[in-house]
Amino acid sequence: MAIPENIINEIRERADIVEIIDSYIPLKKAGRSFKALCPFHPEKTPSFYVSPQKQIFHCFGCGEGGNVFHFLMKYLNTSFVEAVKQVAEIVGVEIPEKEYRDSGTKKILDLNKLVMEFYRKQLNSEKGKTCREYLKSRGLTPDIVAQFRLGYAVSQWDALVNFLKKKGYDYKFLIEAGLILEGKDSGSYYDLFRDRLIFPIIDNKEKVLGFGARTLGSALPKYINTPETPVYKKGRILFGIHLTLEEIKKQRSAIVVEGYLDMISLYQVGIKNVVASLGTALTPEQVRFLKKYVDEAIIIFDGDQAGQMASLRGLDIVLEEGLRAKAVALPPEYDPDSFVHKKGRDEFLKLVENRQDIFDYKLNTLLNIYGKDSLDARIKVVEEMFLSIDKIPNYLVRSECIKKLADKVGFEEKMVWDQYNLRGRKSSRINMAVPGPAVNKKYAPVEATLINLMITRPQLIEELKELLSPQEFITPELQKLVEKIYTIYPDCERLKVGNLLNFVSEDEANILAEIMSEDIECSPEVLDNLLTDCVIRLKELRIKKYCEFLMQEIKKAQTACDNTKADELLRELNDVVRKSKINI
Ligand code: UTP
Ligand code: MN
Repeated sequence: MAIPENIINEIRERADIVEIIDSYIPLKKAGRSFKALCPFHPEKTPSFYVSPQKQIFHCFGCGEGGNVFHFLMKYLNTSFVEAVKQVAEIVGVEIPEKEYRDSGTKKILDLNKLVMEFYRKQLNSEKGKTCREYLKSRGLTPDIVAQFRLGYAVSQWDALVNFLKKKGYDYKFLIEAGLILEGKDSGSYYDLFRDRLIFPIIDNKEKVLGFGARTLGSALPKYINTPETPVYKKGRILFGIHLTLEEIKKQRSAIVVEGYLDMISLYQVGIKNVVASLGTALTPEQVRFLKKYVDEAIIIFDGDQAGQMASLRGLDIVLEEGLRAKAVALPPEYDPDSFVHKKGRDEFLKLVENRQDIFDYKLNTLLNIYGKDSLDARIKVVEEMFLSIDKIPNYLVRSECIKKLADKVGFEEKMVWDQYNLRGRKSSRINMAVPGPAVNKKYAPVEATLINLMITRPQLIEELKELLSPQEFITPELQKLVEKIYTIYPDCERLKVGNLLNFVSEDEANILAEIMSEDIECSPEVLDNLLTDCVIRLKELRIKKYCEFLMQEIKKAQTACDNTKADELLRELNDVVRKSKINI
C-alpha cells in the first residue's frame, strides 16, 4: 500500500461513515444505528445497518460489510487507494502526491491515454486507409468507431517507439507498460502492435487499461493483447464496460459475450447492456463485479463451442459465486457478431428470450454430447454435473438440481443422492482435513463471540493466545483473522475495528463487520467465565467436527470394502473420543 498507514487512519478517524454513506443512499435512524435498503442486493425491507459508534456498516441480508473505505470500494467499484483518496478529499486531509504515485500505475494510465490518441490519429491518417476499409467491411459505422475510440497501429516497426521517445519516455518504462519490446540486439526496441486494428480497453472509470489488437488479414495470432502490467490484469477486465455500465445497472441484467467485435456489434444495433469477457471463461473477479449490478447475467456461447467441456466448466464459477445466470447457445457456425449482422437484432433478442438456466444448459449440452442410451453415458453425465452441484452454495438450490438431474438422466432421485453423498462434497470451499461449518452459515457462533471479545476487550488477547491457537478456529477466514489479531496485539490502536478492517481481505472484512455488528454486553465478573466457556466450546466443536469427518470416512472405506483403512480410521475415532471424553 502506497499511502502511509498513519495517514489512512487519520483520514478514517476524521470521516463520519454515516455522513458519507448518507450522501449516496439516504439513511434512517434506527436505535443507535442507521439503516437503509442495501445497495448491494435487491431487497424490500432494510437490512443494511451503519453504526456510528463502531464506524462500520453491515448488511444482514447479503453479508457485505466493512468500514467507510470498503463502502466506497464496493459502491463505486474502486480500489482501496482510490477510496482512501476520495475520503481524504471529503475530510480535507492532504496525501503527499508521491506516496501514491510511486507505483507507476498513474503514469502508465496517463501514457495509455496518450497512446490511444496516437493510434486514433493513425487510423484517420493516409496510412489508416486499409484499416478504415476493414472496419467498414466488418459493418462498423464511423460513429461506433469513434465511441469505442478504435485506432490503428501502422506497419512500421518503430512508429510508437519514436513518438514516445520524442516525448521523453524511457524504454524500460515503456516495456513495463507493455507497449514495446526489446530487440535481439540489445539497445534496439520495437512496437508490440504493428499493422493492427486497435481496441482500447477502458474501464468504467474511463481509465485506459491496455489494448487488444487484431490483424487485418490472416496473420497469427489473430489478436495480440497488452501483457500483464501493473494496470492490465487479464481476468479482471470486462471490455466495453465504460459505455454500458449505466445501462447494465438500469436493466439489472448483462449480456456477456466473448469477443471485442461481438460486444461492439451488439452495442451498435442498440443492445446496450453488453460486455465481453475477452476470450476467457468468466473469472471470479468478473463475476463478482457483475454481481454488484445485475440480478441476472446472460452468457452467450458461440455455436461451435457448445461441445467444449472447458467452456462448460467455466460455468461452475458463476454457480460458485452465486450469480444468477442464463445461457444462450447460438446456432452452429455463428458468433454474436456474425449473427446480428446476418439475422438482425430481433432474431438475436428472440434467442435471448429463450435463454436457459445455466444448470439446465450444461445438463442438456452434456446429454447431447453423451446421449443417454448406455448406463456408462448416463453415469458420465451425472458425475460431470456433480462437479457443478458441488459449487452451489445454497442447500435448497442444490437439492432442486439433484432432483432435476435424476429426472432428466433417468435415475431414482434417492440413488443420485446416495451417489452424491458417497463421493463426498468436493466443494472448493471445503478443503481442509476437518470440514468447516455448513456453507450457508459461514462460521460457528462461538467463533464470532471470541473474535468480538478480542476486539472489544483486547486485554483478553494475552490470555487467549495461551489458550487457543489460530488454527483451532474452524472457519479458514477466521483462522487468518485471528492470526492477524495475535500479530497486531498489543498495538491496541490498530486493533480498533475501523482500523483493523484496513488490514484484511474483502471477504474477511465482510465477516468481521458482521461479527462486530453484535454488541456483547457483560459485566467484568462474568467476562472471565464467558471467555473460558467459549474456548472450551470451540475446542469441543472442533473435536466433534473431526469425529463426524472420521465417521464419514469410515463409511466411505466400508462401502469401498477397504477394511484396513476402515479399521485404522475407527481406531483413530476411538482414540479421539476417549481422550476428549465427549459424547458423540
Ligand atoms: P474469436 O477467435 O472468437 O474472435 O475470439 P472474434 O472475437 O470472433 O473476432 P473476429 O470476429 O474473428 O474478428 C474471441 C475473443 O478471444 C480473444 C479476443 O478477445 C477475441 O475477441 N482472443 C482470441 C485473443 O485474445 N487472442 C486470440 O488470438 C484470439
Ligand atoms: Mn467473430
